[in-house]
Amino acid sequence: MRFKPDMKWSDVTPKADFLNRRQLISGAAALAAGGVAGQIAAREAWHPADGEGLELNSFEDISNYNNFYEFGTGKGDPAQYAGALTTKPWTVKIDGMVDRPGDYDLDDLLSGIATEERIYRFRCVEAWSMVIPWTGFELNRVLDRVGVQPSARYVAFETLVRPEEMIGQRRNTLDWPYREGLRLDEAMNPLTIIATGLYDEPLPNQNGAPLRLVVPWKYGFKSIKSIVRITLTEDEPPTSWNMQNPGEYGFYSNVNPEVDHPRWSQATERRIGDGLFARRRPTLMFNGYGDYVGDLYAGMDLAEFY
Ligand code: MTE
Repeated sequence: MRFKPDMKWSDVTPKADFLNRRQLISGAAALAAGGVAGQIAAREAWHPADGEGLELNSFEDISNYNNFYEFGTGKGDPAQYAGALTTKPWTVKIDGMVDRPGDYDLDDLLSGIATEERIYRFRCVEAWSMVIPWTGFELNRVLDRVGVQPSARYVAFETLVRPEEMIGQRRNTLDWPYREGLRLDEAMNPLTIIATGLYDEPLPNQNGAPLRLVVPWKYGFKSIKSIVRITLTEDEPPTSWNMQNPGEYGFYSNVNPEVDHPRWSQATERRIGDGLFARRRPTLMFNGYGDYVGDLYAGMDLAEFY
C-alpha cells in the first residue's frame, strides 16, 4: 500500500494503524475516544465493501491519470491544463422539482454539512480501475436541504462551461456541457457522494474541483466533475456519453462483468499502479457494492438497461 508521505493522519496515527483499513478504523475510533485531534474525531470512517484488493492508489496516480475532456482527451491533459480553472467563488444552480430552487454559493450550500472519508473502488468503462480515499458527503444531504418534491424521479447534473479556462471545450469533442443523471433512488442511496477532496486534501482541479459526483457501483463516466447545476426532473435526463454513442453507453452504466462493451470485455480490469505486466483483476458485479445497491435493480434486465 502506498500512502502519500505527508498525509495528515500519519502525524497522529501510529504507522501500524494504517497498514490496513480495519486497523485504521479502530485507530480513528481510539483517537476519537481519546479526544485527540477534533478533525479526526469528527470523521466517520465507513468503507463499504472493505476487503481484498482495496490497496489505495497513490495521490500521484489519482491526480495524474484522468478523464476530463474539458481539458483534453489525453490521460495527462487534465493534470497539465486544469490548473487554469477558477474554482472560487463557485455557484451551483439547483432547480426543477425542489421546494427551494436557487443559485447557491457553494460555501453556503455546504455550510454545516460535515465531510467524511469514503474509500471506494473506482472502475472506468475503459476497463481500468483505482481505489480512492475520497472526502465528501452523501448527495442526499444536499437534496434534503433543498427539498425534493414528490413528483421528482430523476436528478440531472451539468458541468461548468468556460472555454476560456477549459481548453478542451474549444473543440466539440462532446456536446458541452457534460451532463449526467441518476434515478432519484440511486441519488438518495447512501453510497452516492459528492466528493470535495481526496487524501484529506481539497479535490485537485483535474479530479473535478470543487465538487464532483461519485457513484462507486457505476462506471466512472457517471461521476460528473465540476458541477454547476443540479436539476430534479420527472423524465430521464439526457447524459453525455449516451448522447454521443447510445449503442455503447447507457443511462444506467452499472459495473457489470457479464455485459461487455461492444468493443471490449468488461470481465476484467487493469488496476492503475499494478504495472503494465501485472495480471488483470476480475471485475465485480456492481463493482463490489451489490449488497448496498442490488435491490435498486430488482427485476430489471441489466443487459437491456446497460
Ligand atoms: N466529468 C466531466 N465533466 N468531464 C469528463 O470528461 N470524465 C468521466 C468522469 N467525469 C468526465 C467527467 C470519466 S470517463 C471518468 S472515468 C471519470 O470522470 C474520471 O475521474 P478521475 O479522473 O477523477 O479518475
